[in-house]
Amino acid sequence: MSKQSALLSASTASLLIEVVNGALVIRHWGAPLVGEVSDLGLALQPSIANSSWDEAPNSGLMREGSRGFLGRPTLSGHRAGKAWSTKFEVTDFHHIGNLCTITMRDLYAELELSLSFELDSFGVLIQKAEVKNIGSSDYCLDEYIHWFPLPREATETLDFSGRWSNERQPQRREIQTGTWVRETREGRSGHNFSIADIALTPNTSFQSGSAWATSIAWSGNSHYLVERLFDGSQSMGAGELLLPGEVILSANESYEAPSIFAVYSADGLDGVSSAFHSHLRARDIHPKRPRPLTLNMWEAISFDHNEAKIKELVDVAAQIGIERVVIDDGWFRSRRNDRSGLGDWVVDTAVWPNGLAPIIEYINDKGIEFGLWFEGEMVNPNSDLYRAHPEWILHEGGRIPPLWRHQLVLDLGNDGAYNHVLEATSAILSQHNISYIKWDHNRVLVDAGHQGRAGVRRQTQAIYRLFAELKRRHPALEIESCASGGARIDLGIIDLVDRFWTSDNNDALARQSIQRWTSQVIPPELLGTHIGPVPGHQTGRTLELSMRAITALFGHAGIEWDITETTPSEREYLASWAVYYKENRALLHSGKSIRVDYPDEHSYLYGVSSADTKKSIFAYVQLTPSNVIHPPALKFPGLEVNATYLVKAVFPAGQPRYMLIAPPEWLSGVKLSGSALALIGLTAPILAPANAMLIEITKL
Ligand code: DGJ
Repeated sequence: MSKQSALLSASTASLLIEVVNGALVIRHWGAPLVGEVSDLGLALQPSIANSSWDEAPNSGLMREGSRGFLGRPTLSGHRAGKAWSTKFEVTDFHHIGNLCTITMRDLYAELELSLSFELDSFGVLIQKAEVKNIGSSDYCLDEYIHWFPLPREATETLDFSGRWSNERQPQRREIQTGTWVRETREGRSGHNFSIADIALTPNTSFQSGSAWATSIAWSGNSHYLVERLFDGSQSMGAGELLLPGEVILSANESYEAPSIFAVYSADGLDGVSSAFHSHLRARDIHPKRPRPLTLNMWEAISFDHNEAKIKELVDVAAQIGIERVVIDDGWFRSRRNDRSGLGDWVVDTAVWPNGLAPIIEYINDKGIEFGLWFEGEMVNPNSDLYRAHPEWILHEGGRIPPLWRHQLVLDLGNDGAYNHVLEATSAILSQHNISYIKWDHNRVLVDAGHQGRAGVRRQTQAIYRLFAELKRRHPALEIESCASGGARIDLGIIDLVDRFWTSDNNDALARQSIQRWTSQVIPPELLGTHIGPVPGHQTGRTLELSMRAITALFGHAGIEWDITETTPSEREYLASWAVYYKENRALLHSGKSIRVDYPDEHSYLYGVSSADTKKSIFAYVQLTPSNVIHPPALKFPGLEVNATYLVKAVFPAGQPRYMLIAPPEWLSGVKLSGSALALIGLTAPILAPANAMLIEITKL
């Protein structure tokens, strides 16, 4: 190609970008594109419409009014009211392999923009952008949004909404003329954060159809947008949501926008998750060692720290086969409830007169690792830290922001506050054998001012810096990102953490959909999934142990329950489930996640299959009662059609509750080809609602 253009291609997706009259244009983002494309400019030349521009405009990626674009621009800002409209010209265009870097300048607005697009072999495209002030006056940047054009076949979008204990619930809707915006203004990604925004064709399902997905790599305020204009064009975009005056660039200063991850899949929503999972698993920092079976103490003891009780829990944990024990909230000074103590990261000698070292030793002596809870960004007004430094909180106009869980947020953009949190937490880690910390963030940021300016961006960058520094100082440390459950799960923080706490809701039925949709982007080995007690702490619901154990198996498994109260038979099942988890975690944490398009909304059928299909583990889950006696057949896509497989049910944590006289005989084993399993399948047993069973499929 003689003109400036770049075709980035992977086996599942292509991106074609071109420079047209100085503007950068995405010609194609979708299925792999091959062959002659040099005449696309001519092929796509629009008619000159009535009541329209004299020359058909193509403003491209920058979506500028100066080039005739009438929708939301890519970049907005001004210099004290001037330089408010831009016209960028491409000045540099480099393309090597699947990486394309572009520089643009607007000499009137005195801005330089550096963009990069990189497509990896799994079909994950990463778009980055940096805006530089090349003038001498301050430039106030109001907004920078990464945009992707959508073909007209994309008629729907899917995104996620949620609340505490019910994160990432899907919402699918038709794209119509106008702009649809999903904003996050919590100063953390939030329970309501959309882990992805996905455009779809009407028939796109888990297994088939086209999907165009974006996910913003940012843990602060953000927005996703879908815009269809009255000219018929449509696009999806995402960017950081900047508060007024939050980014004012002085001369030569740059703003680095959060990256956007974008995936096209012709294989439905599972194609999207497969690309994200493969990309994330290929990172150098992706956890490599087997994910330790975890006991978290929170739901067992809450703030009631009693060494004898904790030892009892550890004893039972050791019998069951637990590999990591985590002491949650309540270990530090004056933290006898949630009204005091945050900020004072020293061991509370009122409950731990000899410090934490003896209990850690007790745990380690049983061959179990130890983890500890922190909530470093927060401070209770009732704390020594706040009494000494009330000025260290994020605040505006001399006001104290409203309290949430009796706490305020420390301004980590303030060096004093930042160093206090870093040094206090790091000292605890240096003094003890702690391999893992759970880092919580239990409130939203409002009125989050830093020295009179909006401070969410600064705060977000500070926590990234702090995690990186903790990991630098304590190289073996693993960090779990928790925020009242799953309110900080995003691709911005993912490179700094090793696990996400998926939700405070351990109720296995509620967890089914929370985990199903969180794993749309995040691979299961990064998602904490615990067996909770009955009745469940959040829902009060009583569920079979088998249901709770199967649900917790599809993630980084653990237990969050007062296991000293378990019966001998429950302990036996927990121990056999622990063995099953350890035997199968290599598969569960590396295989392809499959969500079958099961034709009955009352059940889920999903699982994990190894790349060579030698072994797969599926869960069949009856969520609510089926309206028919016999639910639809269980069919398993993705196996080798000619290979023969042994299929059988397994019950590592006991039987489910059935609603039948005799279950189908295949449960004890049946041999079928991959083709028969995909096309014909097996009779689904009649399970009672809120029950699940495991099915193993082994290649013979
Ligand atoms: C909220 C977390 O999500 C819980 O798991 C627990 O750590 C509590 N905070 C402790 O305060």
